[in-house]
Amino acid sequence: TIVYDAAELVVGPANDVSGGVDAVSVTIEEGSVLDTRSDAAVVIEDGEVAEIGASDELVRQYPIENAATAVDAAERCVLPGFVDAHTHALFVGDRSDEFEAKLRGQTYQEILAEGGGILRTVRNVRDASEEKLRNRLLDHLDVMLAHGTTTVEVKSGYGLNTETELKMLSAIAGGDDGHPVDVVPTFMGAHAIPEGADADDYVDAVVDDQLPAVADQGIAQFCDVFCEEDVFTLEQSRRVLEAGAEHGLTPKIHADEFERLGGTRLAAELGAASADHLLQSTDWDVRALLEAGVTPVLLPGTAFGLGEGYPDLEPYRKRGAVPAVATDFNPNCHAPSPGFAATLACVGMGMTPGEAILGITERGAAAIDRNRASDGAAGTAGTLTVGAPGDLVVIDGPSHRHLPYNFGVNVVETVLKSGEPVVS
Ligand code: NIG
Ligand code: FE
Repeated sequence: TIVYDAAELVVGPANDVSGGVDAVSVTIEEGSVLDTRSDAAVVIEDGEVAEIGASDELVRQYPIENAATAVDAAERCVLPGFVDAHTHALFVGDRSDEFEAKLRGQTYQEILAEGGGILRTVRNVRDASEEKLRNRLLDHLDVMLAHGTTTVEVKSGYGLNTETELKMLSAIAGGDDGHPVDVVPTFMGAHAIPEGADADDYVDAVVDDQLPAVADQGIAQFCDVFCEEDVFTLEQSRRVLEAGAEHGLTPKIHADEFERLGGTRLAAELGAASADHLLQSTDWDVRALLEAGVTPVLLPGTAFGLGEGYPDLEPYRKRGAVPAVATDFNPNCHAPSPGFAATLACVGMGMTPGEAILGITERGAAAIDRNRASDGAAGTAGTLTVGAPGDLVVIDGPSHRHLPYNFGVNVVETVLKSGEPVVS
């Protein structure tokens, strides 16, 4: 496979954007975060990027008439396939009436306290067969792929009992097998407290029953918890994540979405792969995350939907760090497009287009331990360097800016997964 004549090719980050201990204090200027090439071509062999270079030269070396697949990317930008690092993409039923209730002034937490929100989706998911769940996930993956997502993290957490959490994770594995998108599974039994249950008793059930069963089946890579006022306390979150780690599941955490309970410090202490939401996090919290090598994940779609404002980028910028950006696709944030998340990251948070693109590619991959810098990563994603998977997105526009610049339309034209055209 050859993709040639690209007006712009986004290779990956131009420098270290993890903001780790060694990162210097710099203000990131547009143009400096992305490594881009013009008039470029990419050759993919055996599913992996084999060569990147000047289009004229590579077309001479690998004549397009000999290629099984040749994609003319003239006046187009070619990017790494998008890595959506935070979704709850396996759900059934819709909550559009809650969307309206929120517009009338009800809050997310009030809806949850009345047995709606997550708890309503839990009832739907418990009633659905595994086959139905898998089919819904496959439908969602089709939409995500059409918007350029080639790797996605999907959480359980609408089961809240062993049987249904396992059913969800099994459907997630089925979705991974049955679809070109790579699906990375996260166990999130600690997503909400089931109706009528005592919080501590439920945490016992997560730790003593759900986690061992999940670990036994080997069907989750990460363990996540919703550390939030009226959901799981910092101590309960610690119990869940430590138990998960003992079972070999890498911690992740929903931290500081509505209240700042200290989840970022817990993530730093436990060496979590990511800490997500971070709407209420302080400069100090962000520093703790970055120094511990925890990838911060911002979810602008959720912030947009809640109408409660966006996080400040300054704590990241002054440390030379770019956070991951993900969709958080779920019934409360019905927005599966990374391009739209990138638009919101730019317009809402003030990210540059280059930062937003890194957020949905290399940074997203870092948040699920799939980037090149992760140790023991099962495959890499989010960059187009030699040896990386041949996961590419071609957009209808000559530069990466055209992704966030367009909204309400899908500018993704062609998607290659492991070098094979899956959207064209
Ligand atoms: O990340 N905040 C917790 N979990 C999801 C929402 C899930 C839902 O409302 O169904 C989130 O936004
Ligand atoms: Fe979430």
